[in-house]
Amino acid sequence: MVMRSVKSSVIGGKTASVRRAVVIVLFVQALGPAAGRPQEPAQPRIDEEISKQEKIYRSRGADVPRGYVTDRGLSDYAELLPAGFCDTLGRLGSSDRWLDIGAGAGQAILDYYAPQGDAPSGEKCAPPGDKARAVAMSIEDRRTDKWRHQAASLGDDRMRYLSGKRLRDYSPEELGKFQIITDVFGGFSYTEHLSHFVDRVLSSLEVGGSFYTLVPGVHLEHGKDKLGILYLTELEDAAGRPIKVCSWLKQTACVHVTCESKSDWKRPTELISIRKVCGDTSVPRLKLWEFEAGYPPARRFQLDP
Ligand SMILES: C[S@@+](CC[C@H](N)C(=O)[O-])C[C@H]1O[C@@H](n2cnc3c(N)ncnc32)[C@H](O)[C@@H]1O
Repeated sequence: MVMRSVKSSVIGGKTASVRRAVVIVLFVQALGPAAGRPQEPAQPRIDEEISKQEKIYRSRGADVPRGYVTDRGLSDYAELLPAGFCDTLGRLGSSDRWLDIGAGAGQAILDYYAPQGDAPSGEKCAPPGDKARAVAMSIEDRRTDKWRHQAASLGDDRMRYLSGKRLRDYSPEELGKFQIITDVFGGFSYTEHLSHFVDRVLSSLEVGGSFYTLVPGVHLEHGKDKLGILYLTELEDAAGRPIKVCSWLKQTACVHVTCESKSDWKRPTELISIRKVCGDTSVPRLKLWEFEAGYPPARRFQLDP
């Protein structure tokens, strides 16, 4: 409608049209970036995309899209996650617990428990001696024979695999608490309920525990994004103004958030570590506005006032 008014005024006379166009621009600016946008998310389209996403999770064998990688090992985790991850994991003792959300085949945990010499991973993440009890979580069951064999030889208490549900579907009693939680292209990059997801991560951490993750295709905290980026996860305030994922996380109570911006990666990526410093965590709510299936999906969230 705004575009149509500009066009008709151009036909009517140059001076009048310029004046009218200026008024329209000022009016749109006053309304803010959200002007002209729908007031509510298009739910049928979102539902359609969510069913497409389900198909990706359920895909097997040759049907698994090439970009949906589910077998990254511990050395990949060490490269992709923030700097402190390996040291923190390496320091855990036998009564500590590690949760890997979105573990896929659980290869990182397999490497962690591999007999010395077999593991291609950096020894720093898995030094000889005591190991934490590890829990792999995936929506779909991608366990391999190698996992079954290793889990049987160590006992279920050391390596557990949870599947068939998302993080939000587990009760606090079912999961218990963890000293370290990781997420490499898992729920943080895939969920449609980002604030609820982070809430559940934080409530599953012990005070003093840390969450390590990364998120690709975002506005970077240091603001040095290259031009022409296709963003995957976009956050905005109620007026439609962009918010950086790190600024949003830093509004959470009882946590210390650190972000490492990677502008030279294929997609601008934020490596995020969150340390829980007291018990009463609370994450500013987000509402899903757009979702497009993929690996990872493209999502737009708005702060929910
Ligand atoms: C691309 S795979 C990544 C697997 C592994 N981290 C890797 O890097 O090889 C995505 C994983 O995230 C899981 N996932 C996505 N959303 C999740 C959620 N909300 N809760 C738990 N798992 C989730 C999927 O089921 C799958 O295991």
